[in-house]
Amino acid sequence: QSLKIGMLPADGIGREVLPAARAAILALGSSIPKTEFIDLAAGFEHFTRTGTALPDETVNILQEECDCAMFGAVSSPSRKVTGYSSPIVALRKKMDLYANIRPVTSVAAEPTGKPSVDLVVIRENTECLYVKQETQTVTENGKEARATRLITERASRRIGEMAFKTALSRPRKHVTIIHKSNVLSITDGLFRETVRAVPTLPGVDGRYDEVTIAEQLVDSAVYRLFREPHIYDVMVAPNLYGDILSDAAAALVGSLGLVPSINAGDSFVMGEPVHGSAPDIAGQDIANPLAAIRSAALMLRHLGYGNGADRIEKAVDQVIREGMVLTPDLGGKSKTSEVTQEVIKRI
Ligand code: NAI
Ligand code: MG
Repeated sequence: QSLKIGMLPADGIGREVLPAARAAILALGSSIPKTEFIDLAAGFEHFTRTGTALPDETVNILQEECDCAMFGAVSSPSRKVTGYSSPIVALRKKMDLYANIRPVTSVAAEPTGKPSVDLVVIRENTECLYVKQETQTVTENGKEARATRLITERASRRIGEMAFKTALSRPRKHVTIIHKSNVLSITDGLFRETVRAVPTLPGVDGRYDEVTIAEQLVDSAVYRLFREPHIYDVMVAPNLYGDILSDAAAALVGSLGLVPSINAGDSFVMGEPVHGSAPDIAGQDIANPLAAIRSAALMLRHLGYGNGADRIEKAVDQVIREGMVLTPDLGGKSKTSEVTQEVIKRI
């Protein structure tokens, strides 16, 4: 038995942090099946050279050969570039990776003195405004732009099920549904009602009886996240709110460079640090590799290799707690490669 992992570093610091994730997986040695890494092309830089950001070959190899994958980060431009669309958004849809699971946890004794955080954002990964149906017209009053926001019962139900399942596996077993259905009563209303109804679905048979449910409007959810993060355990949200909330939560634990995620579907999983390609620090060997390394651990746990995942996570936590070898985003002076070496020694 072997584990084939597709590696898509893509752009910017994605290329610096993905080798760290690979090294951490390799450091597990024989405690996981023999791993084989397959390097795959994707990204904006690939687009500028070849005219495609996500080659068919990449998707085919992921679908036909790989057990799982790791994605680095992509440099999507903020202006419209003809022919370009984000490969990560496309991959999530093509591979039906409908859940983006983003645990945000502070390691004990936060040096910043900020309150401790232990929550997971479960972000719907396939619809909402990310269906990217935008149009622009010119009216007598000037330009007018519109975007379609898609919320379906099916996608809301399966992300809701993921949230309840996740809550059951955590000590506090508490789900907070994030929405804005006071304004968007039809779209967010459907999301909210569908997630709320998960415990009463046929076949659930009281499985979620222990899970408590709360809900919070997205704006006040961000406010409360900063003031009293301990009230949250599992936060489940439509695509865009989930994206924003997880970056906000990252600020509470010190850096985006610490927060991992997996994109999960029923038959495939892709690890991915929450951060982007960080052009401001790319190429300097100072990107924090810990988010990517933790993403590898999450991916392994999702595949059933919990012991391997634990070993990686413990090593990362130790390096953070000791505080001697950290990248500049955490106030340290060390390089990406030095932090990676520290983690590997501890694995
Ligand atoms: P970003 O996440 O790349 O960077 C935000 C800030 O956090 C920057 O100051 C950056 O230096 C810092 N940062 C991020 N990751 C870090 C790490 N590992 N270590 C140390 N510091 C880190 O977000 P930004 O600047 O808004 O976007 C840059 C590009 O990334 C854009 O083109 C955007 O489209 C893309 N992006 C891609 C994502 C993905 O591939 N899934 C997600 C978010 C943004
Ligand atoms: Mg984001």
